[in-house]
Amino acid sequence: MNIVILAAGMGKRMRSAQPKVLHPLAGQPLLSYVIDTVRTLSPTRLVVVVGHGADKVRKTVGAPDVQFAVQDKQLGTGHAVQQAVPLLDLSVPTLVLYGDVPLTRASTLKRLLDAAGAERYGMLTVTVDDPTGYGRIVRNAAGSVTKIVEQKDATPDELKIAEINTGIIATPTRQLEAWLASLKNDNAQGQFYLTDVVERAIESGVEVVTAQPDAEWETLGVNSKVQLAALEHVHQRNVAYALLEAGVTLADPARIDVRGTLSCGADVSIDVNCVFEGKVTIGDNVSIGANCVIRDAEIGAGTRIDAYTHIEGATAGANVVLGPYARLRPGAQLGDEAHVGNFVEVKNAVLGHGSKANHLTYIGDSDIGARVNVGAGTITCNYDGANKHRTMIGDDVFIGSDTQLVAPVRVGNGVTIAAGTTVWKDVGDNELVLNEKTQVSRNDYVRPVKKKKA
Ligand code: UD1
Ligand code: CA
Repeated sequence: MNIVILAAGMGKRMRSAQPKVLHPLAGQPLLSYVIDTVRTLSPTRLVVVVGHGADKVRKTVGAPDVQFAVQDKQLGTGHAVQQAVPLLDLSVPTLVLYGDVPLTRASTLKRLLDAAGAERYGMLTVTVDDPTGYGRIVRNAAGSVTKIVEQKDATPDELKIAEINTGIIATPTRQLEAWLASLKNDNAQGQFYLTDVVERAIESGVEVVTAQPDAEWETLGVNSKVQLAALEHVHQRNVAYALLEAGVTLADPARIDVRGTLSCGADVSIDVNCVFEGKVTIGDNVSIGANCVIRDAEIGAGTRIDAYTHIEGATAGANVVLGPYARLRPGAQLGDEAHVGNFVEVKNAVLGHGSKANHLTYIGDSDIGARVNVGAGTITCNYDGANKHRTMIGDDVFIGSDTQLVAPVRVGNGVTIAAGTTVWKDVGDNELVLNEKTQVSRNDYVRPVKKKKA
């Protein structure tokens, strides 16, 4: 089967310089949803019709299995399909979809394809509460489709029809080519409408059939930011309910955003306002506090992530305690039972089994062993202004508060670093390291007092 996706329109009503089909839904361009869904149908030809912002659209969704047809002037949906016809196999049916209708399920498309078979003209229609803006399906007394009329061309009676055109059709291809060539643009918008093809099909004696989706939201299109926001809401609700069905506890399914893939083990609980991006994998018995942002991460079983924690490109082992207000940046790897507390930033660093950095610390470009205690205010000075260097710390090290480790530097096993030490030379196993400083007390000091204003 051939597939054609229309994506040449500018989307005037979006009021944006960005081509409409590239606006993101849950972090992914609208058009990518349509392409991902139709791929599951294994089409033999997959053609995307581009026009407005063509280069950007090509760059964003280009792939070996996708061909592009260019529609230089956006003269209507019928004209758009016509541009794709030379790339189609005329001997097999064609499924046409719109790039601004992202959430149609493959099962619905299969139902339409089955209804149309090789010889019928199939249209996906749906009956909605508010048909405003959509093309209406006009049927005769016998219930057969006679035509589709666009909102702007409809009579007051036709506007009352609640069965609408989703835009998705399945059609024999050789006949489609001829029908498209005979389209006229004598309508309110002066465009060549794909929706007029159904009348040609009827005239040619081809049977017209309709199929319906399981859910209305599958057919919602995006023409404005209002509709995009509404669809985002629908999509997030679907994702949240799928998580609930899979046994995840959500404090409020209306307050979670997943922009990518989130996979959760058993007995995971997620508090309100968490955002998940990219690929996030969460083990059994993990609990996540409110307002966390987690992107491309792997979290081990039994780990607790407290509120306001940010994680990106990082992994945490089992039974780790993170946050509140912790930040794991790319390359952070926390061993089992590690603790990373408030205002601690970890970047490109390994924190070994059971090691703890509980307060106000920066650990960057470091390898820290097991059972290390990193005192409050410890900083790895990894950057010399030109290059980054590594800090290597062994097992069972005690780092006193307010320590600076000037990289490159190596600290052995069992070392104790006194509070307030600047470590700039390597330290051997089991040593105590400190900077000699003197504490001075004086009793001849007079505190200044604030002068009275004249
Ligand atoms: C279209 C249908 C309408 C249907 C609705 C469903 C027509 C004439 N109308 O209306 O019956 O109810 O979709 O969402 O088909 N496009 C091009 N080239 C063009 C014009 C459009 O590629 O010259 C593409 C757009 O990028 C978009 C799709 O076709 O992805 C639909 O175009 P749009 O202008 O949004 O049509 P609607 O007014 O929504
Ligand atoms: Ca549309």
